[in-house]
Amino acid sequence: MKITDTIHYVGVNDRNKYLFEGLWPIPYGVSYNSYIIDDERTALIDTVDSSFFDRFIVKVREVLGDRPVDYLVINHMEPDHSGSIKLVKAFYPDVVIVGNKQTLSMVQGYYGDTDAVLEVKDGDRLDLGHHKLSFHLIPMVHWPETMATYDATERVLFSGDAFGCFGALNGAVLDAGMNTDIYYGEMERYYSCIVGKYGPQVQRALCKLSPLGFETVCPTHGPVWKDELAKVVSIYDRLSKYESCEGVVIAYGTMYGHTEDMAEVIAETLASEGIKNIVMHNLSKSDQSYVLTDIFRYRGLILGAPTYNGGIYPQMEALMSKLEMRCLKNRLFAAFGSFTWAGQAVKHLDAFAAKTGYEVVAPSVEMKQAMSAATREQCIALAKAMAERLKNTGLK
Ligand code: FEO
Repeated sequence: MKITDTIHYVGVNDRNKYLFEGLWPIPYGVSYNSYIIDDERTALIDTVDSSFFDRFIVKVREVLGDRPVDYLVINHMEPDHSGSIKLVKAFYPDVVIVGNKQTLSMVQGYYGDTDAVLEVKDGDRLDLGHHKLSFHLIPMVHWPETMATYDATERVLFSGDAFGCFGALNGAVLDAGMNTDIYYGEMERYYSCIVGKYGPQVQRALCKLSPLGFETVCPTHGPVWKDELAKVVSIYDRLSKYESCEGVVIAYGTMYGHTEDMAEVIAETLASEGIKNIVMHNLSKSDQSYVLTDIFRYRGLILGAPTYNGGIYPQMEALMSKLEMRCLKNRLFAAFGSFTWAGQAVKHLDAFAAKTGYEVVAPSVEMKQAMSAATREQCIALAKAMAERLKNTGLK
């Protein structure tokens, strides 16, 4: 599969795994992308998960025949990409591993081998003959050693996880040759789950890489972007700035439906106030990767949960922890909760709001046992305050 006459795709598809990183569902699978630059000296850019090595090496040999891989460039050391380093070395004993200082230290730690390495610094170049490569450190996108490799000859950026997404490649590799619809939702979910904590670092990487003038991006996951590159860059730019679209996410836990009653009143009121994008997630059913994606997307966030074992409902605790971890900013916030004999949930939600620094639009509503007329009025007031604030920000 050719990206250009001399750049070949040799990645593989994983449609077997249920949970990426053991955490995130991948209903459409995922690809582990690797590329060969076929020149006077050959370069392999990243490898694949080691369980796919057999398939991978067949593809490499289809391109190179009996010629060796001269350089193995490692942009990112997470094992879904570095996992086959040892096997590549066994297959091509003279290959030179190209990486920065942190990369090579990780190669030693994971694979115990730093013979035949070329350590590169930010901006260093490597001449393959016709192709001129340069290396650009983009730390914490999303590991500290991460770098991008730029081929100035063909204006191709090998970007590591940046601009990547979930979703296996179903035949075509280049965006122009496929229907890309599913990849955009999977890109937002990938970003929210995997890269979401590192918005400022992604911004720095975008500023650093943009002047290179790349026209094609070859990421480590998902399609190669060329025709739709501007759209992809704009999505990464928006998400890494924590910018949001109009709308509200109501995420709640509920055991017997009483806390859900509060969520319903809030949603109905928001709708009657003219808010159109309202996404509701019952945390006992919705996978948290989808909840996170919607929270990254919308400006308003309303969390609700019952008290549980003297604390807060566990699914809500898990969501709050994931949100804190991602340092998500600039959200309008409100909370509601319930209890039967001793209220704790709302205290936890209020503490979460204080920690995150979100703008709290209304006092939290706490319900004892079941919906009363007074609680209903409080939920309506909360929703009206959220709607009003959204309208004041120019968002709905
Ligand atoms: Fe796809 Fe960060 O590894």
